Amino acid sequence: MKQFVKIFYLISVIVSLTLLCPLVCRAEAKKGLLVYDSIYGSTPEVAYWLKAIIGDEQPLDVKRVDQVITVAPYDYVLIGSYSKWEKPSPRIYKFVEKYQSDLAKKQVCYFLTCGDWDETMILKVPGGTAHQIAGRNYLYELMTKYPNIKPVVIAGFGGRQVTPALQGADAFMIWMLEKLAREGAAWSGLDIYESLVPERVEVFGNDVRQKVLGLEPLADVQKYRGFWQSAQPGSLTDPSKKKYTVRTYTVHTATDKLFYSRFRIKSDLDGTIKMLAAWAQQNGVTLNEQRKTFFNVYYHAVKNVNGKDMTMHVVAAVMPDDPGAVHISLRSYDKLDARKPIEEAIGKAEQLLWADGRKIEGR
Ligand SMILES: Cc1cc2nc3c(=O)[nH]c(=O)nc-3n(C[C@H](O)[C@H](O)[C@H](O)COP(=O)(O)O)c2cc1C
Repeated sequence: MKQFVKIFYLISVIVSLTLLCPLVCRAEAKKGLLVYDSIYGSTPEVAYWLKAIIGDEQPLDVKRVDQVITVAPYDYVLIGSYSKWEKPSPRIYKFVEKYQSDLAKKQVCYFLTCGDWDETMILKVPGGTAHQIAGRNYLYELMTKYPNIKPVVIAGFGGRQVTPALQGADAFMIWMLEKLAREGAAWSGLDIYESLVPERVEVFGNDVRQKVLGLEPLADVQKYRGFWQSAQPGSLTDPSKKKYTVRTYTVHTATDKLFYSRFRIKSDLDGTIKMLAAWAQQNGVTLNEQRKTFFNVYYHAVKNVNGKDMTMHVVAAVMPDDPGAVHISLRSYDKLDARKPIEEAIGKAEQLLWADGRKIEGR
């Protein structure tokens, strides 16, 4: 009987502790600030979408950048912006500048809305130098300028352009860009153009839950896509036009001014870097690294053709919405009549990278 009372007592203690612990032992929830800047209104839609993913029960203030007077009360800060001319907003730069010493002591995450999310992209405009654009590439300068702030997560989601809403100079510049773009402009002929990759918002939100708040990722995270989706059409006059078209990963373009191959393979960034090094060695190509980040690498791949150095622009990138794959782009801006050996070298790179079933078909 005594033994029975002892066991009963022990079980009662265990049960009470299990029931009470979540209430008593739970650490106080971390307080967050999501600060954003926007011109046309798409970034705050993403901000509230993220707040929903992070969880309404988590204390998270969502404020436009000009409504913030201090970051002191917060344990973590999510900083979001539109991208304009390849950068986050000037007010976001000022915010980071002003609070940099506080931010350096907190957990910080950066996110961008943007038109182009493809982090294998290179932009070459007439008279300008070829350089990386799109997605997280736009955060590079900000992060280099404020190296004491080490973000836990960064993201570039894509975004939305409502063409009839564009203001004077913006409307003119976007129109000009559409005319100049060698590789075409995705928003041509659309009233609303959307590029946002919902999975990226969801991965970012879940990363914040896990890496900042120590919570489980939301399994049914897709249920919040209504924060972004709307019934508005891509074009008021042409019902066949879609505001969002899933962009293809596999592209082959050969024009007079551009030779371009883009695809994806099953690999990781380090493995791809090794394969590119082997390709360079086998094909008399010198790889000059332009920039390396944790998510991509950009090379000038130089081949001497008849005494002249010709440059291929090679980028490999991993993307949060496509785990296990590496996206690769190889470009030559040399003219059609001079670039035969370059086309051949790019063909060799494809052969090597695609070998052993690595090429991912489709899309
Ligand atoms: C004038 C202007 C310049 C832009 N420049 C870029 C750019 O360089 N790169 C990019 O990916 N997106 C660019 N965008 C796209 C915006 O970042 C995108 O539409 C974003 O969703 C806008 O956010 P907002 O609605 O919160 O203002 C530009 C948009 C405008 C209007």
